[in-house]
Amino acid sequence: MSLKYLITGATGGLGSQVLSYLVDNVPASEYAAASSNESNRKRFEDRGIAFRVVNYDDPESMEIAFKDVENLLFVSTNTFDVAKREKQHQNFINAAKKMSVKHVWYTSLAFGGFKDSRADVQQAHLITEEMMRKADINFTSIREGLYTDAFPVFMGWYPSTSKIYLSGDGPIAFTLRAELGEATARLMVQGGHDREIVLLTAQETVSFTDIVDVINETTDRQVETEIVSPEEFVKIKTATDEGGKPKGFFRALETWHAAIAEGDAGFTDPLMATLLGRKPTPAREAVRALLKENRDYEWHQNYAKRG
Ligand SMILES: NC(=O)c1ccc[n+]([C@@H]2O[C@H](COP(=O)([O-])OP(=O)(O)OC[C@H]3O[C@@H](n4cnc5c(N)ncnc54)[C@H](OP(=O)(O)O)[C@@H]3O)[C@@H](O)[C@H]2O)c1
Repeated sequence: MSLKYLITGATGGLGSQVLSYLVDNVPASEYAAASSNESNRKRFEDRGIAFRVVNYDDPESMEIAFKDVENLLFVSTNTFDVAKREKQHQNFINAAKKMSVKHVWYTSLAFGGFKDSRADVQQAHLITEEMMRKADINFTSIREGLYTDAFPVFMGWYPSTSKIYLSGDGPIAFTLRAELGEATARLMVQGGHDREIVLLTAQETVSFTDIVDVINETTDRQVETEIVSPEEFVKIKTATDEGGKPKGFFRALETWHAAIAEGDAGFTDPLMATLLGRKPTPAREAVRALLKENRDYEWHQNYAKRG
């Protein structure tokens, strides 16, 4: 019997939201959750959700799990290491091809809109799209908006930060992760978009400077920003980063800032609002809400040891 939807990354922030939409809107026999860790089986099965082990480092696990799957959500792995991501993603695509999965829904990133971007973090996504074309599988690459929730890591802000160093600023269509999850699920259920790239974003853009204004207004802080050269940026941040991230991270982040300054994060598309049937939450409003709930809001990826 075929399985209509298999959701990888179901333990993560994005995949859990996709799954939650299916739980509320689709018969339980049509979907299953996946994680690389067998120990997560119980938490899904206790909720009446079928479970399969999918480990991108273990091709055999995927060949077993992808059997008779129609729609496969392919959550990009949560590493900034481009080479590691490439290998894991190639394993995934090989298994999807071998098991004749009908449609792979890949969670890419919105740097560049529908074009290519030189932001380091976008490279593994561009390579993955090319791998799917070469493998001749049916796929949709969902270029997911930059998470509003992740603003601290994009701009190097911690609750203790009074000065933010950036190597560039520009328009960013920051988009809430939970809403991206819902829109992604709705897209999969709707179907179509064969061998296409789609862009899911909020409808408005903000700059890092706008976000700093929201931080200051909402939490009564006096945070300042300074734009410095790429070399200075890498030097200052490597020497002072509270989260202990390594030099390589800041070399990469500098390219994200350069791409943002060139307008690569400023593309918006109406598809997300159409899928949701409402306007996605604008970034200013979303950041204000996050900081009102917790004045010392943090994002795990800002800390080298929190993954
Ligand atoms: N758009 C943005 O601004 C933005 C920001 C941050 C990240 N991202 C990207 O979006 C992706 C999804 O975001 P998220 O917030 O859901 O990330 P997340 O909460 O960190 O979840 C990542 C998921 O990847 C799974 N995973 C990790 N290694 C795996 C492996 N070897 N095999 C199979 N599954 C594996 C994890 O599941 P298990 O550990 O249970 O296997 C987890 O469910 C991230 O992975 C990252 O690539 C995007």
